[in-house]
Amino acid sequence: MKFKDQIARRRTFGIISHPDAGKTTLTEKLLLYGGAIQEAGAVKSNKIKKGAASDFMEIERQRGISVATSVLAFEYDGIKVNILDTPGHKDFAEDTFRTLTAVDSVIVVIDVAKGVEEQTEKLVEVCRMRNIPMIVFINKMDREGKDAFDLMDEIEQKLNLRVTPLSFPIGMGYDLKGIYNIRENDVHLFTGNTTKDHKTTTEISDLQDSRLDDLVGNKAADTLREELELVTGIYPTFNREEYLNGELQPVFFGSALHNFGVQELLDGFIAIAPAPRPKKAEERLVAPDEKDFSGFVFKIHANMDPRHRDRLAFIKVVSGTFERNTAYKHVRLNKNLKFSSPNAFFAEKKEIVDESFPGDIVGLHDTGNFKIGDTLTSGEELHYKGIPSFSPEHFRYINNADPMKSKQLAKGIDQLMDEGVAQLFTLELNGRKVIGTVGALQFEVIQYRLEHEYGATCSYENLNVYKACWVDTADTDSDEFKDFKRVKAKFLAHDKRGQLVFFADSSFSLQMTQQKYPSIKFHFVSEFE
Ligand code: G4P
Repeated sequence: MKFKDQIARRRTFGIISHPDAGKTTLTEKLLLYGGAIQEAGAVKSNKIKKGAASDFMEIERQRGISVATSVLAFEYDGIKVNILDTPGHKDFAEDTFRTLTAVDSVIVVIDVAKGVEEQTEKLVEVCRMRNIPMIVFINKMDREGKDAFDLMDEIEQKLNLRVTPLSFPIGMGYDLKGIYNIRENDVHLFTGNTTKDHKTTTEISDLQDSRLDDLVGNKAADTLREELELVTGIYPTFNREEYLNGELQPVFFGSALHNFGVQELLDGFIAIAPAPRPKKAEERLVAPDEKDFSGFVFKIHANMDPRHRDRLAFIKVVSGTFERNTAYKHVRLNKNLKFSSPNAFFAEKKEIVDESFPGDIVGLHDTGNFKIGDTLTSGEELHYKGIPSFSPEHFRYINNADPMKSKQLAKGIDQLMDEGVAQLFTLELNGRKVIGTVGALQFEVIQYRLEHEYGATCSYENLNVYKACWVDTADTDSDEFKDFKRVKAKFLAHDKRGQLVFFADSSFSLQMTQQKYPSIKFHFVSEFE
């Protein structure tokens, strides 16, 4: 197959949702359609149920055995679909944000009864800022929930989106009769089956057709006619350009549990979702069909088995063909590396591959060369942008609890930070180390992993910090900046890259500092222009 055709047939996307909306169930049903798994229950949930670190560790351990769950790939209708897994728990939202840098589009799952929830808002906001094309799937239509129009209103308002339905439910809950596919003009009846539902549809291109009444009954048929008239009146006609630009979000309805409306979603997705797109590097925009390979690391997966210390770095191929046993340039280290056993991912396994194409994810065994955000190329000096660190919200001093193991501790901390588990800061004044995290759960995870993977023990001490901000000024020699550094010396630190960071102890003191030093910029993400 030609290189260009390989690119055109790839769809790399993420499914995002608030926990419990049905992400795992939907993923599984999509895999069933792809023939990638044979039965339900094969996809492990990545949910942290009790909110405890032990849950997280258990999930990670299972994943260590079957790392493939981070990327699920399958073939459908000649299309290679790559689903990137995203953790739903808010403490691991940063992991999800990073994964979103590697997707070409997303599906947002919303629970019909709960509507727009907190995590949905945050994740959609990130996608909106990056103009990532989004499809909305309203799930659990087999249950009583909000009225379809009210829910679409809520989505438009809370998520700041512009939606248009491409399928429409006929009833809901006990009265769910079926779904009308607006794209294909056909009716798919709801049977309540939870196994693979072989879709049988009836084409109804004219809504006045009496077969519609025969299928769903007069009352439901009339309601549907009215509702679809409203849809035509209120919502814009679907336009793929607008969807691809992030200006219009098509909506599908269904029940993942009952495998209902999922095929409409999948077929719709395949028809409209983008193939791999060009990506911005600091130097230039890189197109997928360029001959030379380039890609970037968006995730590092630790091996939880202490006997095998190696890690797996996940690379998204942006351009060219990635080939096994070929030397590529690790741009940050300015070093050539060859990979003899790059992994490709499928639904339930990973396998060594000879070639990967734009849109694909390659897993590279790593003994400590990679950090999140690293770029790999055929030789060009490129730096992919867009994997920022977010301002942490929880802070603690980290102390070595076993002086005999200080080397192990330093190495462990170093590697965990490269994986993006948390951020390490060093106070300017006394060189003390501070760990900053987005969620409180990470402290336990770090402690556990230091002990089990590196044989080091640490203790924490509280530190009262409200937020860490990256500091930036046009003129580091100005009196204002010098005064700031002198007065705030106690609150200044450096991150791992050596960038200056200000620890504000309250929102009030941050405001006061911002007012007092107007020429200094305080950023809440580490990457700024
Ligand atoms: P998540 O990955 O987004 O966190 O959600 P997940 O798929 O795990 O689904 C959360 C719960 O919602 C599960 O029930 C699942 O069975 C249920 N669910 C998913 N889709 C539908 C649907 O279309 N209709 C209905 N009625 N329920 C749905 P649970 O009881 O929490 O888990 P389980 O013990 O059944 O696995």
